[in-house]
Amino acid sequence: MSRTAMLGALVAAALLPSSVQAQTPPRRPVVTAASPDGSLVVTVTTDNDGRATYSLSRKGKLLIGASKLGFTLTDGLAMVRGFRITGSETASADSTWEQPWGERRFVRDHHNELLVRLEQNADYGARRMNVRFRLFDNGFGFRYELPEQPAMKTMKIADEWTEFSVAQPGTAWWIPGGEWNRYEQVYQKTPIDAVSTAHTPITMRLDDGTHLAFHEAALVGYSGMWFKRADGQLFRSTLAPSSRGARVIRDLPFNTPWRTVRVADNAAGLVENDLELNLNEPNKIGDVSWFKPMKYIGIWWGMIRGDWTWAEGPRHGATTERTKQYIDFAAKNGFGGVLVEGWDKGWNGDWFGHGQDFSFTEPTPDFDLKAVTAYAAKQKVQLIGHNETGGNIANYEAQLEDAMKLYQSLGMHAVKTGYVADAGGIIAPGDKPGETRMEYHDGQRQVAHHLKVVETAAKYRIAINEHEPVKDTGLRRTYPNWIDREGARGMEYNAWGQFANGPDHEPTLVYTRMLSGPMDYTPGILSLEGANHVPLASTLAKQLGLYLALYSPIQMASDFIESLAAHPKELQFIRQVPADWSESHLIAGEVGDFAIFARKDRNSEDWYVGGVNGHTARDVTLAMDFLDPGKTYIATVWKDGEGATYETDARHRIAYATLTVKKGDKLPLWLAPGGGAAIRLHPGK
Ligand code: NOJ
Ligand code: CA
Repeated sequence: MSRTAMLGALVAAALLPSSVQAQTPPRRPVVTAASPDGSLVVTVTTDNDGRATYSLSRKGKLLIGASKLGFTLTDGLAMVRGFRITGSETASADSTWEQPWGERRFVRDHHNELLVRLEQNADYGARRMNVRFRLFDNGFGFRYELPEQPAMKTMKIADEWTEFSVAQPGTAWWIPGGEWNRYEQVYQKTPIDAVSTAHTPITMRLDDGTHLAFHEAALVGYSGMWFKRADGQLFRSTLAPSSRGARVIRDLPFNTPWRTVRVADNAAGLVENDLELNLNEPNKIGDVSWFKPMKYIGIWWGMIRGDWTWAEGPRHGATTERTKQYIDFAAKNGFGGVLVEGWDKGWNGDWFGHGQDFSFTEPTPDFDLKAVTAYAAKQKVQLIGHNETGGNIANYEAQLEDAMKLYQSLGMHAVKTGYVADAGGIIAPGDKPGETRMEYHDGQRQVAHHLKVVETAAKYRIAINEHEPVKDTGLRRTYPNWIDREGARGMEYNAWGQFANGPDHEPTLVYTRMLSGPMDYTPGILSLEGANHVPLASTLAKQLGLYLALYSPIQMASDFIESLAAHPKELQFIRQVPADWSESHLIAGEVGDFAIFARKDRNSEDWYVGGVNGHTARDVTLAMDFLDPGKTYIATVWKDGEGATYETDARHRIAYATLTVKKGDKLPLWLAPGGGAAIRLHPGK
């Protein structure tokens, strides 16, 4: 351990003798701790008003200036002033743990820890709170720990007043927090001091090149944190609201989620960073080998585009016949699953706003659930269930256990859920039978709901993929059946408007939304068009690059099967590309501009390289330094064809190549506007 780290956590200078105090104000305790290599240093102290503050520096340069800690309460004096530090403790750890599936197999957790004990004086209510900091070389996290105490049994949090005073100017990539469309928005790029209230992760690049991403880890029993700019570059947490007034109500003792900051020299350092996973608890549900990462197709794009309907009728998508056709296609092409939406009762009429009508166990008359699941099993394909709740969790929770039990009995192992309702439009059970209350998608009640779904599903060996979810905070480590979620603008928007997501959307997601965890983006629209032929802001090669840029352990090939079949060479890549990796590296990229990954298959010696480009064409030279030494690889390349651009019909131009490469080689690659690339590297004989 470095010298700074060993010196870490020193509580300095108690009160000076009273004769000196007459001229000099009393010095307050200052507690510090450093990351294992000494580069990140946190300093905790209290100000004149007894307000606890922390600051963070890196290699001696301030990143986060003095930032206050605390809470306001709905039933008492704020826990902001009158604090003194009563003690501190340190610890350190260095261990490596294994992920059942993911972007990498092994994750190193190397950190130093500092626990600071704080107590308010009697005038302010004599409440105690501890703050635990964990410092890694590439980021840090801290959480409040509220111990059992005589002065408070239940904490009713009006809001959390954690500050983040960003010390240097720079650029931010963010989406607004609390906006009605939840997380499904196009990212904004603004100066840091032009952010309003943002969801996390929010990503920043300081003018000196330092990259930061603010987020949270282990969001359990609490409300999601929004990142609200108070003034200049000073941000403050504000929690998603609750119908109960207090935004969080908890009996003591309890811990808040971790507030996290990734810190890196470059974009790759932000992406190859397991901070939030390391701040979550280890696996609590045991063996999940029943869930296998896979690719899937679905009866989906037809409804999203409006060709088919979720509702029963002549254009009903989820018919027995069509499902069998999709199962046949899946079996023939090695897809593990077939998602079927609109298979259940409740979609007739205007389903938006009528979540109370959904049944999660009764199929429509033209969908023979038993026959279809038996047919799938015979072909070694799984049916992926779909539970659209319309945001009515009162209705869903009442059926949850029966639904999961049914799906397990039918051999299903994955369910996609959905919560289509405006932000604040979640309908939760009230206090009395029959009563309901309205909640936010990321409020404490909905956070509890998601965990209930995931825990219930785990009992029945079912994995959950949520749409309109609460943001990911690394809980897949604790609940590895929580396989992925939406939580951003997905492919669906491209069905509804020309260039709807824009060419820069995916190379922005890589460095923002994706820092929180896997996403069900649903790539693979090989036709490159949505409803009424509206074009995607994508070349054909980019649709393949998405499988490498946006990680998920279940990756959809979301186009109609006829369109997939009409692109045999592209389908070949989608068939081959894994959804589970032993290593992942961002080998070229800048926030919002482009992102090229190298990922190694968890189940073979193959490497895959590829990713996505924004609106500007660019030449990149990819260093093949990641390859295993002493091997020659056959590289099969899918890349933007000459003159390809998302802007015209030239978006369909794709080029193919086969070459041999070895470790250390340099591979030049041209990326079209809105383009991308995908390369499979298979060791030759
Ligand atoms: C929105 C989801 O994102 C989409 O995938 C789904 O098909 C619809 N809701 C209907 O549930
Ligand atoms: Ca959605």
